Amino acid sequence: MDIAQDLVLGIETSCDETSAAVLSGGSVLLSHVTSSQIDVHQVYGGVVPEIASREHCLHIDAVVDRALGEAGVRLKDLGAVAVTFGPGLVGSLLVGVAYAKALAYARGLKFIGVNHLEAHVLANLLEHPDMAFPVLALLVSGGHTNYLYFEDYLTYRVVGRTRDDAAGEAFDKVARALKLGYPGGPHIEKAAQKGRDDAYALPRSLLEPGSLDFSFSGLKSAVLNQLNSARMRGDTPSVEDMAASFQRAVIDVLVTKTHMALERFPQARTLALAGGVAANGALGQAIEAEAMQQGVDFCSPSLEFCTDNGAMVAVAGYCYNKAGRYTGWNLNAVPGLKLTAE
Ligand code: KG4
Ligand code: ZN
Repeated sequence: MDIAQDLVLGIETSCDETSAAVLSGGSVLLSHVTSSQIDVHQVYGGVVPEIASREHCLHIDAVVDRALGEAGVRLKDLGAVAVTFGPGLVGSLLVGVAYAKALAYARGLKFIGVNHLEAHVLANLLEHPDMAFPVLALLVSGGHTNYLYFEDYLTYRVVGRTRDDAAGEAFDKVARALKLGYPGGPHIEKAAQKGRDDAYALPRSLLEPGSLDFSFSGLKSAVLNQLNSARMRGDTPSVEDMAASFQRAVIDVLVTKTHMALERFPQARTLALAGGVAANGALGQAIEAEAMQQGVDFCSPSLEFCTDNGAMVAVAGYCYNKAGRYTGWNLNAVPGLKLTAE
């Protein structure tokens, strides 16, 4: 099937970004529009689900309209509409799913439900359409930390997972304890640039020997304990030093595990980083260095495609489309949607 010219509209509303993008031929991004709700949720220190759903309702029509307008595309030109149907916040997902379904049904377009986590990894295809498979992907987002081994675009296995907190969740909770803003990752990264990463002794949990699973809750608790102890002693802990020490500990664990994962999967030709935490510059550099040392290609999405975005949904939709994986009209939002074989 030649779908080189097929246009896919991708819609993402799983959490606090309303985003839409139009993609042509799998890697030519014609438009990408995101309306972020960070300002709305910041005062609460985190995403308030009910407010997130209402914000999506308010903005989705304008976001999609702008995406189509900037791409110079009319609805009737589209080949398919792809939308994230999980995992995520149920109310937020429902807005995107209902909107995309109605649009596709009314216009007789192909309709494709996309797994948000697969989309994060496939976002790499936007800028690396020739990514060599097999790909070992390190997915680090707000809710997930996983190694995925991709034989091809859509055939993969989960080979490592978090047993408690995800990496992004740890960034957010530590940022909260340090009274930095929401979302925590970018604030920690900024503060860390001014701090000493060996100022506080923090644990690096590697679990049992050989395990590719993760555990970040002990690290998070260690940060909270050290902050409490310092405050009880009447000391003022250094935000910059703690941010730098925490970030170093997360990166050390991710690099050590990635070294093991690449040894475990010597057939892998590419190491792909993905998810919101992939926006962290120090992490990207450390993981890229590890890939170089082990002689595999490295790729990571640009900043705007690391955090939640419609372009990654469009590219995943393109891949599903290529495989003829369409979704019936009974598709529902699945907040706890898993990765295949998870
Ligand atoms: O992938 P994502 O946008 O949403 C989920 O699917 O979860 O990831 C959001 C997570 C948040 O925990 C946020 O703090 C983290 O990504 N993040 C970062 C950075 N930018 C976003 N973590 C570390 N450094 C960053 N620069
Ligand atoms: Zn995400």
